[in-house]
Amino acid sequence: MEIYDNEILIDVDYLNIDSASFTQLKQVTKSDLEKIKDLIIAIVDEKGKMQNPVTGSGGMLIGKIEAIGDVLKDKIDLKVGDKIASLVSLSLTPLKIDKIIKIYPEIDRVEIKGKAILFESGIYAKLPKDIEDKLALAALDVAGAPAQVKNLVKEGNTVLILGATGKSGLMCSCMAKKMVGKTGKVIGQARNEKRAKFLEITEFCHEIIIADVLKPLNVLEETLKVNNGKEVDISINCLSIPNTEMSSILPVRDGGVVYFFSMATSFTKAALGAEGVGKDVTMIIGNGYTVNHAKIALDLLNESEILKKIFQEKYS
Ligand SMILES: NC(=O)c1ccc[n+]([C@@H]2O[C@H](COP(=O)([O-])OP(=O)(O)OC[C@H]3O[C@@H](n4cnc5c(N)ncnc54)[C@H](OP(=O)(O)O)[C@@H]3O)[C@@H](O)[C@H]2O)c1
Repeated sequence: MEIYDNEILIDVDYLNIDSASFTQLKQVTKSDLEKIKDLIIAIVDEKGKMQNPVTGSGGMLIGKIEAIGDVLKDKIDLKVGDKIASLVSLSLTPLKIDKIIKIYPEIDRVEIKGKAILFESGIYAKLPKDIEDKLALAALDVAGAPAQVKNLVKEGNTVLILGATGKSGLMCSCMAKKMVGKTGKVIGQARNEKRAKFLEITEFCHEIIIADVLKPLNVLEETLKVNNGKEVDISINCLSIPNTEMSSILPVRDGGVVYFFSMATSFTKAALGAEGVGKDVTMIIGNGYTVNHAKIALDLLNESEILKKIFQEKYS
């Protein structure tokens, strides 16, 4: 872990494993924490980074600056000891794990002793003083999603959010409700009654549907029921499981937009699926980066008491 003069060495505290990746790790190990530990160590030993070989995805980290290369020292607003969150994916961040201290399987978090290297081009956020570190880590992991919803969703739009009960889904729902204004509608999907009740309390969605995301017709039917028989303008996929492309495409009107934030999305299934059902929709890959995405995500947390409370209860 020696750095070049334009790199930053980070003493890592926590990894936030990407949700699609962690879901896959839980599936293959039947949620056995020791096996998950072994798998993470094996991946990082082999690849030199936490890139899940099945999902291809990474996650992000928080840690303290241990060293800054000479060339960078005067160019950046960081000093040794500062706490930062990396905003580039772990799938491309050199990482060495000395020890896994603890795994928090409910929130995809791994406490480690280890080091990482940030390249000169790597983006990062100094951890804000007004939000607790672990809370910020959770929000920053999915910061691209609410920032892109802010750009994408316009007043009066009808928006369907798949996986509205998850971390990015809640942030997207909260942002979408702001953007659609009085004339639009946000429809949130939950997988069962219990999760629907939880979503209802947030008041982020005008309508909530309970639907099986692996059954596209079920998602379409439930959406039509709450939208006067009409398809939606935009759907946003915030799910962490594969095979949900058609559930995102079917409920969208011709000329509408399907936004795939999920890392479990297959380009082939989306492209051929849309063609197969003759849907003329614009499909967008959820870029993890958007200008100002970190600020937009953290501002959203500060603006919405209920969102902050949910994040505090789950991720603190
Ligand atoms: N594009 C990017 O740059 C980027 C960056 C970060 C993350 N991501 C991706 O964004 C997606 C969401 O991440 P997240 O952190 O928001 O995940 P999360 O908090 O774990 O939420 C996952 C969502 O999927 C639902 N879900 C999980 N398993 C399910 C199942 N078997 N059946 C039905 N629903 C299921 C969850 O429902 P419950 O709430 O009921 O569990 C929840 O709504 C992931 O695919 C992640 O990889 C993309």
